[in-house]
Amino acid sequence: MSEPVLRPATGADVDRLLAFWLEAGENDARPSDSADAVRRQLERDPDALVVVELDGRILGSVIAGWDGWRAHLYRLAVHPDARRRGLGRLLLDHVERRFAALGAARIDAMVLEGNDLGQSVWRAAGYAPQDDWRRWVKALG
Ligand SMILES: CC(C)(COP(=O)(O)OP(=O)(O)OC[C@H]1O[C@@H](n2cnc3c(N)ncnc32)[C@H](O)[C@@H]1OP(=O)(O)O)[C@@H](O)C(=O)NCCC(=O)NCCS
Repeated sequence: MSEPVLRPATGADVDRLLAFWLEAGENDARPSDSADAVRRQLERDPDALVVVELDGRILGSVIAGWDGWRAHLYRLAVHPDARRRGLGRLLLDHVERRFAALGAARIDAMVLEGNDLGQSVWRAAGYAPQDDWRRWVKALG
């Protein structure tokens, strides 16, 4: 049986990623993804967007953003057909090692209050909610 392969995403993956996130991602309460936004991200940090593939099919993703100061995770998603087989954990283990090597001391992720599935994975991986903080946002443009 084939083994899952982890690799950084490239420009050739952009359309497949957008389709993958529509099917697999948490898509509520956030700006929609666009090809330009994904390309900008790949240009800014070519190692941050990691995918897991099996037999050439993208089955999971995560964006591990490191700006030299803080480490943020976005777009953790595994295809519904491939869930509960450890791929989410594989992605998290991989990016946590990368953040540690870069010198990050802490990692954070935005998790919707009602996303019980997402919360179960973050908890299982050792993350906990911070009750004394709220995210403050301002849309640009
Ligand atoms: C969240 C998500 C990425 C998890 O991916 P996954 O590959 O299924 O997760 P894993 O198989 O690595 O699970 C790791 C652990 O998380 C917990 N977990 C995962 N799915 C769970 C479920 N349906 N119910 C309860 N616990 C669950 C378990 O503790 C699991 O370990 P175990 O299987 O040994 O018990 C996937 O469900 C998903 O894409 N959900 C939709 C998008 C989303 O909500 N992303 C998070 C945004 S904040």
